[in-house]
Amino acid sequence: MRTAPRALSAADQLRLGVGTALYQYDDTGKKNGLGRLTRLTLPHATFDMTYTARGQVEEQRRQLSLVPWPGASLATTLREKTAYNALGQVAKVEHADASGSGTGTVTVTEYDERGLPARLKAGGRVAEIGCGVGWSSISLARGFPRVRIDGVDVDRTSIKQARRNAEEAGLADRIAFHLAPAEEAPLTGPYDLVTAFECLHDMAYPGKALRRMRELAGPDGAVLVADEAVGDGLEENRNFIGRLNYNFSVLHCLPQALVYPDAAGTGTVLGPATLRAYAEDAGFQRVEVLPIENPLWRFYRLTP
Ligand SMILES: C[S@@+](CC[C@H](N)C(=O)[O-])C[C@H]1O[C@@H](n2cnc3c(N)ncnc32)[C@H](O)[C@@H]1O
Repeated sequence: MRTAPRALSAADQLRLGVGTALYQYDDTGKKNGLGRLTRLTLPHATFDMTYTARGQVEEQRRQLSLVPWPGASLATTLREKTAYNALGQVAKVEHADASGSGTGTVTVTEYDERGLPARLKAGGRVAEIGCGVGWSSISLARGFPRVRIDGVDVDRTSIKQARRNAEEAGLADRIAFHLAPAEEAPLTGPYDLVTAFECLHDMAYPGKALRRMRELAGPDGAVLVADEAVGDGLEENRNFIGRLNYNFSVLHCLPQALVYPDAAGTGTVLGPATLRAYAEDAGFQRVEVLPIENPLWRFYRLTP
């Protein structure tokens, strides 16, 4: 029997340099709960970053040299063209640019044999965990004009921007944004739909976050997770998308999570086996990979 490929640990990712980064990790701030990652040197760029205990980027300076990295513009283009095609065509959310300052659009169809669109059309409740600056929430609110949405994110700047975005979209009466870590989401369920778009791998405690999402969904809610379309082990990720994600991992996703004590240290390359293990720990009954073809994202439906 073939054994499941093992996901690379945080230490492995950093030690092997699976990204192209050389790094120095300065943990002198750890005593008071602060972690610092300073000076990442790539062939073409130097990054100086400081992360607070909450994982927020306090300072991020990029000194790009004149040597272009083709991956950067390609990643932006891919993301521009990529739709979050949630719950098998229920909601399609497009980000116009990689910085998250784009606009969202939503397309609603009747797909979903368990009646979720009907519930949302009738005015259901959605909790969006790791909502960032709020575009997915805004798109869902546009697509389902009676739905009420609570977005949660640990990043203060994102939450402020999300509130501004909802205000400008004229949707602030139906979308509320809350500043909190996922595992402590200050919400009261049950919700018809609980989502986490491309953020579970960023979370220091993904198992606890999923447990909280399961509680919020209650027995009848749907839980949708979208994360990177990557394989589980190193061998399966020896391709362009794998390299791209390992680069994101060592440059951003790992260090921003590792500042938390006893963080899981998942990194960007969150494959299906790891996700299933986290979901099982969180008490979910079932994990399905949804039949949505996408070069960058994989969509999982978790049954509470
Ligand atoms: C790559 S962004 C994705 C944002 C948004 N879902 C999107 O698709 O544009 C990851 C987000 O996860 C948030 N995040 C990371 N750890 C978190 C945690 N423990 N609880 C809540 N949000 C978290 C970050 O602040 C960031 O906004």
